[in-house]
Amino acid sequence: MLDLKSRPRRLRKNEIIRNLVQETHLHPAQFIAPVFIHDGKESQIKINSMPGIYQFSLDGALKHIEELKENEINSIIIFGIPNKKDSHATSAWDENGIIQKANRKIKENFPDILLINDTCLCEYMDHGHCGVIHNSEIINDPTLEILQKTAISQAASGADIIAPSGMMDGVIKSIRSALDENDFQDIALMSYAVKYASAFYGPFREAAESTPQFGDRKTYQMNPANKREAIREALIDEKEGADIIMVKPALPYLDIISAVKEKVNLPIAAYNVSGEYSMLVAAAQNGWIDENKAIIEMLTGIKRAGADIIISYFAKDIARILKS
Ligand code: PBG
Repeated sequence: MLDLKSRPRRLRKNEIIRNLVQETHLHPAQFIAPVFIHDGKESQIKINSMPGIYQFSLDGALKHIEELKENEINSIIIFGIPNKKDSHATSAWDENGIIQKANRKIKENFPDILLINDTCLCEYMDHGHCGVIHNSEIINDPTLEILQKTAISQAASGADIIAPSGMMDGVIKSIRSALDENDFQDIALMSYAVKYASAFYGPFREAAESTPQFGDRKTYQMNPANKREAIREALIDEKEGADIIMVKPALPYLDIISAVKEKVNLPIAAYNVSGEYSMLVAAAQNGWIDENKAIIEMLTGIKRAGADIIISYFAKDIARILKS
């Protein structure tokens, strides 16, 4: 016999002891499900690059939310696909825009669902960028004015949380003050504070019909090579009044989640984005990996890195997989 002081395998002997010493747990309460809502009649429209995910009509969305609730998912973030796009994103803040209609309808039917609105302009701009364009550049401060109007109309129609995702400077400060001036001081801000210019948003852009018509988003979204800049962005938004700080994407940025968690005293959300969903599902459909096991492992990794909240297209599957 070797004289070993440490035998870590003792704590892996059987499932009961493994469960006893498990450090990270997933629970449906920690998840937010993204929901795409289009402004038409068809109950659900398939998204080719995201098998199992749909664009829903207003009625279709209600049915889907019912299903989410049955699976213990009570928090959603909704994305609108409007019928009309223009150069000033007017349907983003229109009282009868798709998100505003959806907010009213969802709150009427599910008063206790936690309803988050993504506050960005790319789905509503004819050019697909997240801000106002002047001389081919995305200009910051005029974009903030439209985002303020959008946030107010989202809050007025029933959103519980506003989630600015366009990476404009000063967005948290300006939306916070606009909400406060309009008596919405209890509406929280979940800031997409650390959002990288990522190839993993590809399937989302098909889903939300928001692909930029020229160029890319590198003048506002972050360079994937940077880590200290992530801390800077997170601290700015904490100071400006954010209630939750988000890192996005999740899987290729676990070190960033962990670093931001160390520096910021707010809950940390991680967005397990469309490309992370699609690559896992595609591999599973090919029989290359075990889908359920891979989902749990991926989400556990994100949680272990430091995420308190996970936004994921797998949210609908979590309760089911955890039970099995
Ligand atoms: C809007 C927005 C995007 C995502 C969430 N909000 C797309 C983008 O920045 O191009 C991506 C989410 C995903 O890929 O699942 N700006």
